[in-house]
This record gives sequence, structure tokens and C-alpha cells, in this order.
Amino acid sequence: MSQKEKFIQHLADGQIYKKDHIILGTGILDGEALSGATIKIPLKTLNRHGLIAGATGTGKTKTLQVIAEQLSLKGVPSVLMDLKGDLSGLAQPGHANDFILNRSAKIGVEYDPMGLPVELMSISKEKGVKLKATVSEFGPVLISQILDLNSTQQGVIALVFRYCDTHHLPLLDLKDLKRVLQFITNEGKEAIKQEFGQVSAASVNTIMRKIIELEQQGAERFFGEQSFDVNDFVRTKDGKGVISIIRLTDIQSKPKLFSTFMLSILSEIYETFPEQGDADKPKLCLFIDEAHLVFGNASKDLLEKIEAIIKLIRSKGVGVYFCTQTPTDVPDSVLGQLGLKVQHALRAFTAKDRKAITKTAENYPISEFYKTSEVLTSMGIGEALVTALNEKGIPTPLAHTLVRAPITRMDILTASEIDQLVGSSDLVPRYNQDVDRESAFEILNRKMDELEAEQEKANLPGPAARTARRTPQDQSLIEELSKNTMVRQIGRTIFRELTRGILGSFSRKR
Ligand SMILES: Nc1ncnc2c1ncn2[C@@H]1O[C@H](COP(=O)(O)OP(=O)(O)O)[C@@H](O)[C@H]1O
Ligand SMILES: [Mg+2]
Repeated sequence: MSQKEKFIQHLADGQIYKKDHIILGTGILDGEALSGATIKIPLKTLNRHGLIAGATGTGKTKTLQVIAEQLSLKGVPSVLMDLKGDLSGLAQPGHANDFILNRSAKIGVEYDPMGLPVELMSISKEKGVKLKATVSEFGPVLISQILDLNSTQQGVIALVFRYCDTHHLPLLDLKDLKRVLQFITNEGKEAIKQEFGQVSAASVNTIMRKIIELEQQGAERFFGEQSFDVNDFVRTKDGKGVISIIRLTDIQSKPKLFSTFMLSILSEIYETFPEQGDADKPKLCLFIDEAHLVFGNASKDLLEKIEAIIKLIRSKGVGVYFCTQTPTDVPDSVLGQLGLKVQHALRAFTAKDRKAITKTAENYPISEFYKTSEVLTSMGIGEALVTALNEKGIPTPLAHTLVRAPITRMDILTASEIDQLVGSSDLVPRYNQDVDRESAFEILNRKMDELEAEQEKANLPGPAARTARRTPQDQSLIEELSKNTMVRQIGRTIFRELTRGILGSFSRKR
């Protein structure tokens, strides 16, 4: 048997599937793309997460596009965090040219260009479905992370959430959060002191300043209602999985906002989706481009939470895929959990690069057919070293792969195509109205006004006496607040039915 025949046999033995799979490309040996060396990824293990790595321009984004396409064709929806804005082309058919037809012929797949169902989303000014979450839903841990708070300040935030939970003050947006912080150092100072002890005014001031900084980054667009229901990520259209592209081009320079946002989505999915058990295909796949932004800025505490969620979310049928330049951008504890590995070429410019290449090579199964570290630096564009998990959960043989070309457009949509896509969305009308229902800000303001009016009627002399009068009333004021707002709660943040989840964020389950 020739070396090539041996390789094809070796691949086939490692990829015996009873259930459905997608085709990523074909195997390459000694520079030749082999027919019959099809690289298949079983749908069954696509909830076991993955990594797409490689130097700039080696084909990571196109690989991501190909996998999302093939999943969509199999009815599996996906969410793409698009930091460079280069994925919108998924909505339009690709264009056949010699290069693409030649590549498809080598791989043994037909080139059948088509546009796929795409939903554009954003957390900022970009067009599309506005993804929002209320401050309550976001929870104290993520709020502290996004504001970069020290442990004393985190304590204040925890107190604010506890106070608002027990006194039924809905925290919807940053305006509410600021109002409650103001309340606990001013009008509510004595009541808070009785309930929780002294709160440091300096800490509150720092938090206030950081909230204002966050607002200047455009975060107030993200906080509030209508809060997004993650079940809306899981949709199909004409049997094809809907691809939700979250356009994040304008938050690249705000890594903290991005990492916290990503974690909030993961935790929300985790809290919301039911256990899936042993399924034939994933329920949803999430692709995170420029993943180093997520990990590079996370505190140790937060990293542990990300790791925990990634481990747990598998059982909900959700696969998470990280796209990044080198695998060393992803913490080892996360790397160890990744089933699919697609490694595009790496460049060996510096000693540090060479070290990363050796380390990367060690992370791949040993192959009698390749010298991994050599292949790593010599692969062409749109080629990658690939290993997946077969249906038994065993890594498939390492294969230098010629990745198929995307069937959708390899370029972005035009402005008018974007307008048309957004205009025909069913989710946009549902999520893009501004809602500002009564929340902590209004409730506290109104109560304070009422109190003021009452005291004016009593015709109290000086402001000092007024404060003195107000203090003993705080307890009844709070009781009053609870009574009234309880009845008024009609939105989704119904406190009695909410539980604090893994990140202390609210579950939106009803
Ligand atoms: N699978 C592929 N099929 C066809 N062309 C590809 C493929 N992968 C990469 N290319 C070509 O290489 C270019 C760079 O790929 P891209 O995925 O944007 O790189 P990266 O994300 O790693 O920076 C693409 O614009 C495309 O022309
Ligand atoms: Mg890219």
C-alpha cells in the first residue's frame, strides 16, 4: 500500500459515522490534495467546542464562514461575534471563479452558491436587532467586572442589588443604578446603615464616575429594555439554521465591554436553555472572533467563571468556537475542553513565535504522516491542520486539510443590502422600540417628591429639621415602595420568579 493509500485508510478508520456530518475539505499529503480523503466533522460532537487559529490572512474567518454555512444547511443555527465586520456576506450567494471551482473539484464537493438566512444584531449604533439586557439581569458580578471595581466597591454593588431585590426596585438601565447609588448615600443613608451598616461615600463616588465613563463608551445603549430573549438565537428558516451576526466593529477598542457582553450571553444561554442530553446535533453554535479580547482582559475570578460556563453549556447542546491568532491566546483550562481544532498557518518571525509553534504542535495528536511543526509554518491560505472528535468522542486523525470555499459571498454586504436585510427582519420591530417603563429611577424620584410635599405641608422650618424628620420615616417609605411597585410589575423582570444564577445574574425564565 502506498503512503497515500495508507493515509486515506487511516483517515477513513477514524471517521466512521452513523449520524450526519459536515464536510470541511479534503486531506493533503506531500503537497497534494487527495480525492477520497474527505475531512468530515460529525454534528453529534459539535457541542464539544473548538478553536480556529492561525496568523492574519491564513483563512480563519473563511473557515468560520464555511462551518457556519454547513451548519445552517443542516438546520443548526449559529451566533457569530463579528469584530471585523467581515461576515455579513453570509446573506448573499458567492461567485464562482476558476480558483473556487478548482478548489471544489479537488475536494470533491459541488460549488452551489446561495445566500443563507442571516439576522444582523448589534449592541451599539450598528444597524440590526438591538441586543439589550437590564442591569438586574446583568447582575452584580458582571456589573462589577465591566466597571472594573475593587472588592470594596464590589461589595457596594452587591448591596445595591440585594437592596433592590428585596425592596422591589427594578434596575433596568444605568440611570436606575446611578439613582439608587445616590439614594443610598443621601435620602436612604440611615435606612441602609440600619440594614447593612455604613457604606463608604468614596466608594460610591468612584462607582458613579466609572458608570459615567462606561456611558461615554456607549454602554447605555446596551442596558435597558426590551431585553433580548436568547431563544431567538435558535431559529430556522425553510429548514436552514438562522445565522445571527452580532456586529461588534465599534467595540473592538472596548475589550472590557466585549468580554463582559460575551459572558453575559453565555450565562444567559446557560440559565435559559434546558438540558439536552445526548443529541444527534447541536442546538446552537457560537463563534467568537478575536477571542484574545475575551481572555486578555478577564480577571482570574472571571476566567474561572468563563471556564465553568463553557464546561457546563455543552450539556445544553451549545458549542462555543474561538477564533484567534495562536492557541496560546486561550487559557489552557479552556483549550483542554475543545473538541475541534482547526489550525491555520503560523508565522515564525521571532523566538517567541517559534516557542508558540512548538507548544501548538504539542497540542495536536501525533501523526506518522506529518511533522506537525513544519506543516504549521508552511501551509497555504485556506489550508489547516484539523482534528475533530469522532462520534465516539475520540480525536480524528490529524489531517492537513484543504478547506472548502464558502458558498456565500466572501465579501461584505453593501449598505443597501444591509438596509434591506434589517428592513425585512421580524425581530427588529420587536426589539428596537425604546421602552422606559417605571423603574428605580422614577420610583425613587416620585417617592422623594411625595415625601417632600408632605413635609412642606407640615410646614417644617429648616432643612436640618427636615432631614431629622425624614429619617424615622424611611422604614415605612420602603414598605410603601414595595407594596406599590409589586402591583405595578408587569414587564419581564418579575422579581418573585427570578433566581440569581451562576453569575448572580437574573434568569429570564418565566
Ligand atoms: N476556504 C477558503 N476558500 C477560498 N478562499 C479562501 C479560503 N480561506 C481563505 N481564503 C482567501 O484568503 C483570504 C484571507 O482569509 P481570511 O479568512 O479573511 O483570513 P483571516 O481571518 O485568517 O485573517 C480570503 O479573503 C480569501 O481570499
Ligand atoms: Mg479574520
